[in-house]
Amino acid sequence: MNKAISAWVSSVAERVRPSAIHWCDGSAEEIDALLGRMTRDEALIRLNPDRYPRCFLHRSDPRDVAGSDHRTFISTVFREDVGPTNNWLSEADARRLLGQLFRGVMRGRTMYVVPYLLGPAGSRYSRVGVQITDSPYVVASLRLMTRMGSVALEHLGSSSDFVRGVHSVGDLSPDRRYVVHFPGLRAIWSIGSGYGGNALLSNKCHGLTIASVQAREEGWLAEHMLIMGLTDPEGVKHYLAAAFPSACGKTNLSMLVPTLPGWKVETVGDDICWMHVGKDGRLWALNPDHGVFGGAPGTSWKTNPAAMAAMAHDTIFTNVALRHDGTPWWEGMGEPPREGAVDWRGRPWTPDFAEPAAHPNARFTTSARQFPTVGPSLDEPEGVPISAIIFGGRRARVAPLVYEARSWEHGVYMGATLVSETTSAAKGPVAVPRHDPMAMLPYCGYNMAEYFRHWLTIGGVRKPRVFHVNWFRTGGDGRYLWPGYGENIRVMKWILDRVQRRAAARPTPIGLVPVDLDLHGLQLPHGAVEQLLDVDLAAWQEEARRTGDFLKSFGRRLPSRLREEHEDLLSRLRNAYN
Ligand code: GDP
Ligand code: PGA
Ligand code: MN
Repeated sequence: MNKAISAWVSSVAERVRPSAIHWCDGSAEEIDALLGRMTRDEALIRLNPDRYPRCFLHRSDPRDVAGSDHRTFISTVFREDVGPTNNWLSEADARRLLGQLFRGVMRGRTMYVVPYLLGPAGSRYSRVGVQITDSPYVVASLRLMTRMGSVALEHLGSSSDFVRGVHSVGDLSPDRRYVVHFPGLRAIWSIGSGYGGNALLSNKCHGLTIASVQAREEGWLAEHMLIMGLTDPEGVKHYLAAAFPSACGKTNLSMLVPTLPGWKVETVGDDICWMHVGKDGRLWALNPDHGVFGGAPGTSWKTNPAAMAAMAHDTIFTNVALRHDGTPWWEGMGEPPREGAVDWRGRPWTPDFAEPAAHPNARFTTSARQFPTVGPSLDEPEGVPISAIIFGGRRARVAPLVYEARSWEHGVYMGATLVSETTSAAKGPVAVPRHDPMAMLPYCGYNMAEYFRHWLTIGGVRKPRVFHVNWFRTGGDGRYLWPGYGENIRVMKWILDRVQRRAAARPTPIGLVPVDLDLHGLQLPHGAVEQLLDVDLAAWQEEARRTGDFLKSFGRRLPSRLREEHEDLLSRLRNAYN
């Protein structure tokens, strides 16, 4: 056993006082036993074994259903280190607070020790973390989400270089909920929540927040991005990475099933992307995760057949509705709920109820292995070379379907000033537009101004082209103008044509928009394409004004290059009016 892990586990145990310690090896027998015990304890409901073999339903505390950004903190010595977009706790305050909250918190409970590996086995870019938790649901989820157990210990060897995560559900009280990151100590302490982003510490907390700090120190990037391979009908393959805020389409795009003939998609990752500059001067990307924590509502055989196939076995569902026949159900599943359904809280439900049956942020957790679109690139130790980076958000108005940055620096500005409407993936009001730089607002572990500077200095010699997409523009009737999902291949095709310099683009003040999209065989309402590609100058002037205020919040730390990009945008908008 690794000496640094044993010593750390003993010190944590002394504080939290568990009744037993279980060291997880990640074996199938271990997980079967754990799932069996949770079913007996009613922490899980076993789903219909014929229709959904080895699948379970977990119902969370109704107050614990989404990311708790307002209870998430970065703890450093100086407040400036975390910048204006993060909640800060001084190291001294954090120690005092957590010391009280965690003292004896695991009395009468089993403490699980879960070593996990982020990234492919044998990759020099992979990292080890160890999560301590008192939640068997978290253990079972980590087994699906990461390469868990012995493979991580083998990678670590005798090194003490691992991220230390301590998690307890505590009493699940929202007032005593804290997710505290210590980037300097490579540690995360989380209490009071069992929900994904707050509790599966390998994912956002380690893979993004802590990793973003390491990435800056070591010259790489840890990003909230999907990674996908796209092969065109001639057999030419390119890889792309795309950053969208939570619940804005990463999982769906990463496994899209193209409606254009001859195109193929390989899913490399659906959520997190670690990128390094390769010897060839390109950015190479790998997915640290080994599973998907995907949103269920809206997922159907029509919108996302790959996910539907994947979650038909060996899956943990969280906060979905349950049908009489023991099968899961959610809004947008494309099947009737049938009689005798109960909602995500277990209350009898019928379709005429005002509230949805599944929680809008209901989730499925499934191993990456199970997705028909996942290929060998997931285990490629060097990752895959990135040809294009895409930023995107959920915008009813303003942002066109797709546009391209004028340069790398303009692309960084586009990412830094990304705006998206809030969703049910985080607590708080939904559908409010807010700035969410690079979709990293809740996950950047240091001052965002320094993060922008890091982006400006990285990118390799052969920089990828940068794009912005928006699948969510609505027409006068409030309905989406773009069909989305499999039809998004038409936008991806234009993007790859731009990468290969064979598609025309029209310059506008905000960037380059398509002259021609392949809309062959697609029936769009009259005038929809024009609306989708429209750049409304008045709306963009208003947007630029708000962006100016947002950039000001970083004060003098903001890289001057971004200020110049902003001035340039303002003057292009002014000139376009004249
Ligand atoms: P992620 O959280 O960023 O991975 O986003 P998901 O892929 O889980 O999608 C979030 C929500 O947006 C789900 O309800 C999807 O059904 C929906 N969605 C995803 N892609 C599209 C699209 O192209 N068009 C529309 N209209 N909705 C989409
Ligand atoms: P998402 O995950 O970015 O895929 O929506 C959100 C979460 O883990 O809370
Ligand atoms: Mn997702």
